[in-house]
Amino acid sequence: MGLKKFPGFIDVHVHLREPGATQKEDFLTGSKAAITGGFTFIIDMPNNPIPTFSLEALEEKIKLSKRAICDIGFHFGTNGKNLNSFNDAYLHPRIFGLKVYLNHTTGDFLIDDRQVLEQIFVSWESEKPILVHAEGKKIEECITLAKKYNRKLHVCHISQKEEVKMIRKAKKEKLKVTAGVTPHHLFLIDSDVKKLGPFAMMKLPLGTKKNQDALWQGILDGTIDLVESDHAPHTRQEKLANKPAFGVPGLETTLGLLFKAVHDKKITEKDIIRLLFDNPKRIFNIPEQKNTYIEFDPEKSYQIGENGYQTRSGWSPFDKWQVYGKVENVILHGKKIMNRGKIL
Ligand code: DOR
Ligand code: ZN
Repeated sequence: MGLKKFPGFIDVHVHLREPGATQKEDFLTGSKAAITGGFTFIIDMPNNPIPTFSLEALEEKIKLSKRAICDIGFHFGTNGKNLNSFNDAYLHPRIFGLKVYLNHTTGDFLIDDRQVLEQIFVSWESEKPILVHAEGKKIEECITLAKKYNRKLHVCHISQKEEVKMIRKAKKEKLKVTAGVTPHHLFLIDSDVKKLGPFAMMKLPLGTKKNQDALWQGILDGTIDLVESDHAPHTRQEKLANKPAFGVPGLETTLGLLFKAVHDKKITEKDIIRLLFDNPKRIFNIPEQKNTYIEFDPEKSYQIGENGYQTRSGWSPFDKWQVYGKVENVILHGKKIMNRGKIL
């Protein structure tokens, strides 16, 4: 078929680890992984050792991120004690949303007090979405608050059939609720943990086949708005430790897996553009990237990891999977930054 032109894709959920955990990733290695995977705009999460809970922490990240080779935005974070910095945060042009953790994750960020959660929804007086890391009933709680305060709510990485139903219902009620799904929840299930061990452990955990089927259904009927990689690199050593770190890298593998799904006739190329470009751009109000596009042959097969990995973590749960559509050329703001698969 030959090379075909696509928009530079958008990943609204990545953990680039700088500052504080650059043994896993930094802005340079993470952005190289992004470009390799066809993403020209990514949004970094706030759960660093010094979390993005203040404008100072944000400015520090912005400074460090100048080394990145793609465009980067940031989500602000909260422990419920930084509500008075929300105003400056949501007016900041580099901030795209507020991330709230209602279930356990890497770091200590849990909001488990209902009143604190409500105050967060009250104080984030912005059109920029509140993103929640939440499971089951906690999602319902957030939907109720989004309705009460007329906030935009983005439910990250949904993983269960019941959660797809909740989002579907909220959309029927015309609430400002959107949802994302990760490639690992789409392509792996709980039984894969037997084979992959800690390398298939993440939050939220992998679900059953029944749950996975519901996620694909949610993609097809528009309940699920976007695919977010939740790129969460950890070193092999950290994964093999007694208490393994949760999360898997995803920036380099998301596009190939989704084109495999096209090849397997589960979705269409149009769906991919909706999931990785149109919807993330609209929901998070991503600025236009002029003269930016990527090129690849969507029918050309390749093996994940065949040329190694750009992420510093250096592994993938999808290693050796046969997928489609390896990015060849990337043009960002009129400048060629990848040529025939090589970052320039
Ligand atoms: O598995 C996960 N890893 N889930 C998260 O929510 C956070 C992430 C991380 O930062 O490692
Ligand atoms: Zn995450």
